[in-house]
Amino acid sequence: MYTPQMRELIKKVEETRPQRIGKHFPRMTAEQRQEVLKKYHPDYKEDSTVTLPVGVNKGDRVLKEMFQLFAAKSLLEGKSINLEESAYDVDVLVVGGGGAGASAALAAEEQGARVLLATKLRFGDANTMMAQGGIQAAVKENDSPAIHYLDVLGGGHFTNVPELARALVSDAPGVLKWLEELGAMFDKNPDGSMIAIHGGGTSRKRMHAARDYSGAEIMRTLRDEVLNRGIEVIEFSSAVELILDDEGKAAGCVLFNLETEEYLVARAKTVILATGGSGRLHYQGFPTSNHYGATADGIIMAYRAGAKLIYMDTFQYHPTGAAYPPQILGLLVTEKVRGLGATPLNIKGEMFVYHLETRDVEASAIIRECTDRQLGVPTPTGMVGVWLDSPMIDLIHGEGTIERQLPAMVRQFARFNIDIRKEPILIYPTLHYQNGGILIDEYGQSTVENLYVAGESAGGIHGRNRLMGNSLLDIIVFGRRAGRHAAEKAPSVKLKRLHLEHIKKYHKELLEEGIDTEGRFAPLLLPRYTHREAEAEQ
Ligand code: FUM
Repeated sequence: MYTPQMRELIKKVEETRPQRIGKHFPRMTAEQRQEVLKKYHPDYKEDSTVTLPVGVNKGDRVLKEMFQLFAAKSLLEGKSINLEESAYDVDVLVVGGGGAGASAALAAEEQGARVLLATKLRFGDANTMMAQGGIQAAVKENDSPAIHYLDVLGGGHFTNVPELARALVSDAPGVLKWLEELGAMFDKNPDGSMIAIHGGGTSRKRMHAARDYSGAEIMRTLRDEVLNRGIEVIEFSSAVELILDDEGKAAGCVLFNLETEEYLVARAKTVILATGGSGRLHYQGFPTSNHYGATADGIIMAYRAGAKLIYMDTFQYHPTGAAYPPQILGLLVTEKVRGLGATPLNIKGEMFVYHLETRDVEASAIIRECTDRQLGVPTPTGMVGVWLDSPMIDLIHGEGTIERQLPAMVRQFARFNIDIRKEPILIYPTLHYQNGGILIDEYGQSTVENLYVAGESAGGIHGRNRLMGNSLLDIIVFGRRAGRHAAEKAPSVKLKRLHLEHIKKYHKELLEEGIDTEGRFAPLLLPRYTHREAEAEQ
């Protein structure tokens, strides 16, 4: 429930609402976008990054919070692991139980591979499940993969790896069809055609949704299919290190069973990392929309094994995270709310940014409004946010639209006695997506042979900024590509002697650079939230 003071401020929003119907704030010019990004986007804060002192990307800048993990000891330090004794021996080991892992497992199984999917928490506990707004695919007559490609590159400020962006958009129509055939239920018009709406930075309506439960619907579909096909899945089994063979090729993982606390060896001819992003590192103190397991595990393991990373200094701050009530701070308010016409407003009830700028620009403009311009709305807990005028949606599209199209949003706020059909939502940017990650080629192969990567732990597809709906798409495009290629490769792989020497070597390099690793271990596996952990960090 909003406080009386906040209700008073909402009156300003109500006053200006009638004049705003049918009006948009002008889009920024390219120069204005660059200016607002440079001044306000968290990526441009110089003191937020440090230089990586070791490894393949030595000299690159990384966020300070992630550096703590790069500069840490292995969880296997001091443990003796017998690599001759394997608990699992498969063709393809998939690490991660989100949409990318599930898609990879399905594609590998289709090629006849023996597949094991190991996941840190429960199968489906992942950012995929929490994705709301939709999945992009150019399937309408006025659209094409080529137009989609231009949007992807424009959104990424032309920093995307072109072959990856091309693979993304070319596979998109097939991915949508595949999901439908598996049973995913997307929103349709009465004539059976797909409903498509705009997202920030799209030049055509190509966002396909299942209400605002798009990720949950896709994950439900993929998980059912994996289980129905009898693919082996082990839960609460987190990978903690990659195993290499004598030729430096990936040959499995050491898994840690979170329930029994045992370390188990999984030998595999090829490995697919689909471990997701790192929002739970709360870069620069930002709240996050991410799943509890998003702690950069795959990045750390792959880097120690010698895989090249790309763009580890750039993250996406989703413009519309919940700023109130504090119980849901940082949770996503889907971009679909803006896609349907809701506009951000300052404390005076005024528009200050075009509502569908790309996410980085939109978030920067909101930060500017709340900082330099001091036109944000304060909350009782000392946060500042801006309004997102959700009641506009029913005025634009007709009564009942919000309830039909945004049931998850309605419910998320109704729990706190906020009715988003009648009252605006208070929002502020939230840490949402890791733009960079492990460098892959168009088949999902990393720079380490037999190591494939898919989903948010891969980098380069979106350049330095991703557009809405291209993440639900990329997890499936590159999950399937990686699964197929890893399975095709497996029969030709003869596993040699297995080892973990790369971990010792990496640690030695850290010590040689004078990095004190004392008391720090990685991968993190679970975020640090207890007081004791926070104190230990200081
Ligand atoms: O706003 C959203 O619904 C998020 C979508 C995405 O990150 O693709």
